[in-house]
Amino acid sequence: MSESLRIIYAASEVEGFSKSGGLADVARALPLHLKQLGHDVRIVTPFYRSIPDSHVTKTVIPSLGVPLGGEEIWCAVRESEMSGTVEGETVSVPVYFIEHEHYFFRRGYYDDGMLEYPDNAARFGFFSKSILQLCRALNWIPDIFHANDWHTALLPYYLNQAQEEASEFPESGSVLTIHNSGYQGNAPGTFRNSLEIPPEYFVPELFEDHGELNLLKGGISFADQVNTVSQGYAEELTTPLGSHGLHEIYTDKGYDFSGILNGCDYEDWNPETDPNLPGRFSSKDLAGKKVCKQKLQQTFGLPETSTVPVIGMVSRLTWQKGFEYLIPALPDILRLNVQLIVLGSGELWIANSFDQLKDQFPQKLGWKNGHDNYLAHLIEAGSDLYLMPSLYEPCGLNQMYSLRYGTLPIVRKVGGLKDTVINYDESNQNGNGFIIDDPNEEAVINAVELAVNTFYKKPRNFSKMIDRAMKQRFTWKAAAEKYVVLYQKTLN
Ligand code: ADP
Ligand code: GLC
Repeated sequence: MSESLRIIYAASEVEGFSKSGGLADVARALPLHLKQLGHDVRIVTPFYRSIPDSHVTKTVIPSLGVPLGGEEIWCAVRESEMSGTVEGETVSVPVYFIEHEHYFFRRGYYDDGMLEYPDNAARFGFFSKSILQLCRALNWIPDIFHANDWHTALLPYYLNQAQEEASEFPESGSVLTIHNSGYQGNAPGTFRNSLEIPPEYFVPELFEDHGELNLLKGGISFADQVNTVSQGYAEELTTPLGSHGLHEIYTDKGYDFSGILNGCDYEDWNPETDPNLPGRFSSKDLAGKKVCKQKLQQTFGLPETSTVPVIGMVSRLTWQKGFEYLIPALPDILRLNVQLIVLGSGELWIANSFDQLKDQFPQKLGWKNGHDNYLAHLIEAGSDLYLMPSLYEPCGLNQMYSLRYGTLPIVRKVGGLKDTVINYDESNQNGNGFIIDDPNEEAVINAVELAVNTFYKKPRNFSKMIDRAMKQRFTWKAAAEKYVVLYQKTLN
């Protein structure tokens, strides 16, 4: 094992405490695996109002003053423990919560359900700065500050700022992981003073972006190492088309920018042991999958038939996930002999479209607007196919869950999806899923038709694909080892 490192892992959401998407899954799995590799890793996250009371947290610092923008902002720090099983062993990691009633006791994490909070830059800038102050108060000096996405992108900057002054952190390195470059933390330039960003840093090479502040952009420049969550997305981010406007910033990082594919948490997502399922199954015995399919159809009020393929979707309802071209294609897809089951929450226009489609195809579409972990597991297990037509996808976790559950993914050829799903190839019997070549109606209809025809007309091929899919592994252990190499690079 390499030398044990002290790592602060900063994330705006952590599975078990707060979750809107895959960042939360990663913020749980990666720290647990780093701990299992022998590192002293501690998570820091906001204390949101929605954190369930079942999580016992203890106030460890009743009042912590965080100097920011010429003011002292006061918060409290709570602590809890996050446990999980890694390779058969129970592993625990401390979690620190930054408690600030005005900033974090709100309806949502980032928005009120419709609009983003206008003070998000102040909220998460404060959160990022508080992390340094927490380490000082604990007298615990990390080797690595690991930030994630725009919410904590200011952490590398504040570390750099502290290092310029005589600081407690002379040797510490910073890593910024990009889970989604489409969200950059844009804010009016008026936030500059309160975030301590001086005029000489409000330039296009650092924080300035079309006259506004761009927190992610500045964070990328200040971080020692930057990575994203797949090799495919890393390549896309260096191109004008795939970078959401930041390709020059990524390209400038050179060898300090890389891709590390996320893992899949096979403790949580294992069809042989999943406590959410009415029937368990393995690649050797798929009987339990049929039980799950029937339960799924029953739950969504669809005809309970095993002979019709069920296509599942579990998704944030947002532009990124390809709904703009999927929704117009759905009437044609639903006219095929299929059932479609969708679970999602997010933008209203997408939810409304599914409401209308449900009226039109009541016997073929099952749809629920909401966030539901139990149903997410049931959909992954009980469906035959899984649809993920994303416009871009930094990594994507649901296609990995689908593969493990023998639910063949139909995905766009982008980012982490193209790194994990191999297209069906009838001639050489290869593949574990189906690829949508382009982001348009025709391409998604073609890919779904091919998948459905393979289900009906080539059941042997379909079964072999299921077998290959279920045996595929993307382990967190492999990913965690790559992160350790990245951490070591920052210290050289
Ligand atoms: P993203 O982070 O872009 O949303 P990922 O595929 O990486 O996409 O991860 C999404 C995660 O959020 C998965 O764990 C998925 O099961 C979960 N998820 C998304 N929407 C819902 C929902 N409505 N209910 C339950 N889980 C959901
Ligand atoms: C983001 C991305 C998703 C990725 C997840 C975890 O939300 O959209 O592709 O899997 O983060 O890294």
